[in-house]
Amino acid sequence: MWDQVQKTVSYIKNKTNFIPEYGVILGSGLGSFTDDLQIEYTLPYDTIPNFPVSTVQGHKGALVFGTIGDKRVVAMQGRFHFYEGYSMKEVTFPVRVMKYLGITQLIVSNASGGVNPEYKVGSIVLIKDHINMAPEHPLRGKNDERFGPRFVNMSEPYSKKMIAKVKEIALDLNIEIHDGIYLGLQGPTFETLAEYRMVKILGADCVGMSTVPEVIVARHMGLETFGISVITDMGDEESITTISHDEVLEAANKAEPDVRQLIRELILHY
Ligand code: HPA
Repeated sequence: MWDQVQKTVSYIKNKTNFIPEYGVILGSGLGSFTDDLQIEYTLPYDTIPNFPVSTVQGHKGALVFGTIGDKRVVAMQGRFHFYEGYSMKEVTFPVRVMKYLGITQLIVSNASGGVNPEYKVGSIVLIKDHINMAPEHPLRGKNDERFGPRFVNMSEPYSKKMIAKVKEIALDLNIEIHDGIYLGLQGPTFETLAEYRMVKILGADCVGMSTVPEVIVARHMGLETFGISVITDMGDEESITTISHDEVLEAANKAEPDVRQLIRELILHY
């Protein structure tokens, strides 16, 4: 794995000498964030050695390198999900690559289902913690100390400093935000009513099929991490909404300008 990562990093460094400081993973319907970048170089996933190729509708597959002001960013336009058939090591491979391209901060976005009755479709949630209920762990197996320690401290998976900064920004911009706990399941089915109830009972505010593995691997390597989620449907019994992938994309698209602005300002002013 170490050699594969370093080989991929060398390949990319031969293509561009751009050294990013921020990595951004763009979730469902949030891909237009790259419009905020002064793009310097785009690398389609299918040209990058060892990279998986995205299969989900609405996810483009490319690494996009560019600047926001004087900050240097690499964005993953499209991510890999466990439900697509990849192993958790494959899902998180790009995070390892971004680390060795130079990032020190990782920003992750996603769409999720809300179970906190204070949320509604379109709510923006700053992820303050997560519950990992995925069936495979990205760090399972022999640990390579060059990446990070065997036992990873997860007492602050989501940077309190970055969350505080975004709260300030949201106040300034008059964007309504919540914070909450994200529970990660494998998908690809959306939750049954009983499963949404379980999510709530377990103490989470929203549920989705991504983010947790990437954040675990980011923390393994000591990256400072920030997560943001758009509620695209409600699983709360009183306010349950029907859900299809198109509806998820539609709701995510509506919140997109605000999420984009929050991430942009975070990168500019952090
Ligand atoms: N459950 C899981 N993943 C999701 C949901 C959901 O309700 N909405 C968007 N992604």
